[in-house]
Amino acid sequence: MWSLVFVTTLALSSAVSETVNLPSNDTWQYSFGVDYENNQFLLDGKPFRYVSGSFHYFRAPRQYWRDRLRKMRAAGLNAVSTYVEWSLHEPEPGQFNWAGDADLIEFLNIAQEEDLFVLLRPGPYICAERDLGGLPYWLLREAPDIKLRTKDAAFMKYATAYLNQVLEKVKPLLRGNGGPIIMVQIENEYGSYNACDTEYTDMLKEIIVGKVGSKALLYTTDGASASLLRCGFVPGAYATIDFGTSVNVTNSFQSMRLYQPRGPLVNSEFYPGWLTHWGETFQRVKTEAVTKTLREMLALGASVNIYMFYGGTNFGFTSGANGGVGAYSPQITSYDYDAPLTEAGDPTDKYFAIRDVIGQYLPLPNISLPTESPKGNYGPVLLEPIQKLFDSESSFVISWASSDKPRTFEHLSVNQGFVLYETDLPPPVFDPVILRATIKDRALVYVDGRLSGTLSRMDKIFTIPLENPYGRRLSLLIENQGRLNFGNEIHDFKGISNVTLSGTPLINWNMTGYALSDVSFLQDVMTIDIESGTLNNGPVFLRGRFTITGQPLDTFLDPTGWGKGVAFVNGHNLGRYWPLVGPQITLYVPAPYLRTGENELILLELEYISQTRKMKFQSVPNLG
Ligand SMILES: *[C@@H]1O[C@H](CO)[C@@H](O)[C@H](O)[C@H]1NC(C)=O
Ligand SMILES: *[C@@H]1O[C@H](CO)[C@@H](O)[C@H](O)[C@H]1NC(C)=O
Ligand SMILES: *[C@@H]1O[C@H](CO)[C@@H](O)[C@H](O)[C@H]1NC(C)=O
Ligand SMILES: *[C@@H]1O[C@H](CO)[C@@H](O)[C@H](O)[C@H]1NC(C)=O
Ligand SMILES: *[C@@H]1O[C@H](CO)[C@@H](O)[C@H](O)[C@H]1NC(C)=O
Repeated sequence: MWSLVFVTTLALSSAVSETVNLPSNDTWQYSFGVDYENNQFLLDGKPFRYVSGSFHYFRAPRQYWRDRLRKMRAAGLNAVSTYVEWSLHEPEPGQFNWAGDADLIEFLNIAQEEDLFVLLRPGPYICAERDLGGLPYWLLREAPDIKLRTKDAAFMKYATAYLNQVLEKVKPLLRGNGGPIIMVQIENEYGSYNACDTEYTDMLKEIIVGKVGSKALLYTTDGASASLLRCGFVPGAYATIDFGTSVNVTNSFQSMRLYQPRGPLVNSEFYPGWLTHWGETFQRVKTEAVTKTLREMLALGASVNIYMFYGGTNFGFTSGANGGVGAYSPQITSYDYDAPLTEAGDPTDKYFAIRDVIGQYLPLPNISLPTESPKGNYGPVLLEPIQKLFDSESSFVISWASSDKPRTFEHLSVNQGFVLYETDLPPPVFDPVILRATIKDRALVYVDGRLSGTLSRMDKIFTIPLENPYGRRLSLLIENQGRLNFGNEIHDFKGISNVTLSGTPLINWNMTGYALSDVSFLQDVMTIDIESGTLNNGPVFLRGRFTITGQPLDTFLDPTGWGKGVAFVNGHNLGRYWPLVGPQITLYVPAPYLRTGENELILLELEYISQTRKMKFQSVPNLG
């Protein structure tokens, strides 16, 4: 198999241009590499270019994987790019999960069946606007001093075990073995991380080479500038860049040429839309700008991956946040991204415009074009209060601790969700009494069980005068709004620290951790009496039932008139709602979460019960 080795040799000598004598075709069967002489990829020995789209399997229920992939192929794409999310596959150390919506192999098999090659981005860090950039929270528990994304022994120990698992699983699906995976990415935009630990990226490369060998092409992706490529470039891997519209394409590719003087031009993340944070306007990118830039890249012979082609949803508590020192912007639940396919998988004008451009460069497949899927309009559902979060018998308590100083969520083994921090207040010595705390990320402040106000990292509100300074007990319900996924401050422990009352440190804390991964036992709980309006005495669970006749359809849950919370349909966590802040109003409800007959809606409402006590399922989304 010298020929495959030959391909790798070419890839490894990336900075050198060589004249090659291509070997005969039969030795090229099932291979992927670079022809540096002619600045092109070689697929099974033949010239090849890809126009790919990003779709992360972890942002859609598996029942929809084939539908979305087929629609991508119908747009003329010949490849799909996906991250692999470590935190999904290893929720606790050594406990691996590859089933259900985490069945990566099934996703890759479907991609191949739908005639798509695969660009695999296994991390370990992926950014992706996911909690902690896809790294598992327990890294911060197992080794609180860990230096994420470096050669730090603690990080490498876990990262190596994880990578070996993933790569062993996908091995049969590498191109060299006849599978769809043509490229495997090392790390992710590492040049944007100021650790600049190139020994670390070399170690990752060795791990990947150990499993992948020459059966797929290793590559890196970085922002289009020399300063970003400097630390992101990994000798022996193919260096690619990413950029969106409104740049000069020729100039952008010139930065790639500084580190990759020969070989095909590649934009690994071309942005047809953009991500959105809570409290800003929904981000959009104009179709004309997308087609113009795409056309320019394809005219230059470049291979392109469109990020995202289908965005999907951050179900549950999986969304991350941007920010750093003094700044914090959590992302919304929807990952619609203003992508060519909407959150519900419907084609947009952008979809057809992109297809037209691709059709000028690649043969379009003979697949019927997608149309908008029918949506359910299931109307209003009456919600009745059934339990208070703070009930001592609450089954949601997964962790309890007591200590001098408040502990982090991670220390308490609470990944997502909420922790209640409680302490006894000393007698007041000042008037007014000012509470100050470093909080991650949001606190509902209660004195003697009554709401006194809100602290917010997002809004930089870290002090509050206590409404009742003569109270005896202080309770802070802390919400993790998503760990930072980008930047140099990603060691984003959750919880509270440095809590003072008019300058005096508060000590002796009781901490109660709540998990919301399973709400099924609320099904039979009796209703309780709670007034509508502001929830002065803590969050409340509410339950409602509704009936669907016939085949369930996708629908959208509209929480207008409610405060802030989390919604569950038939036990599936749809994610956070926060209509007051927006811009996202409705939550996407995929049909596979619904059933013919009786369905159940459960809310954990933190702040305010709508006067109507109703929330409705409607047929149109409202992302603001
Ligand atoms: C290999 O196949 C390609 C395309 O099918 C053809 O152009 C090329 O001449 C072939 N090379 C050899 C050495 O047979
Ligand atoms: C991009 O920049 C180059 C010079 O750096 C210029 O010649 C070219 O016209 C620009 N392209 C566009 C589309 O503006
Ligand atoms: C496209 O597919 C349809 C239905 O499968 C088939 O009838 C038709 O002949 C195909 N057209 C071409 C050009 O292959
Ligand atoms: C903390 O827990 C201990 C033990 O259950 C209890 O005695 C104490 O009153 C609690 N303190 C607060 C502030 O909740
Ligand atoms: C808490 O206060 C100490 C001492 O002032 C300071 O060094 C530390 O950075 C603070 N911690 C946080 C998380 O703000």
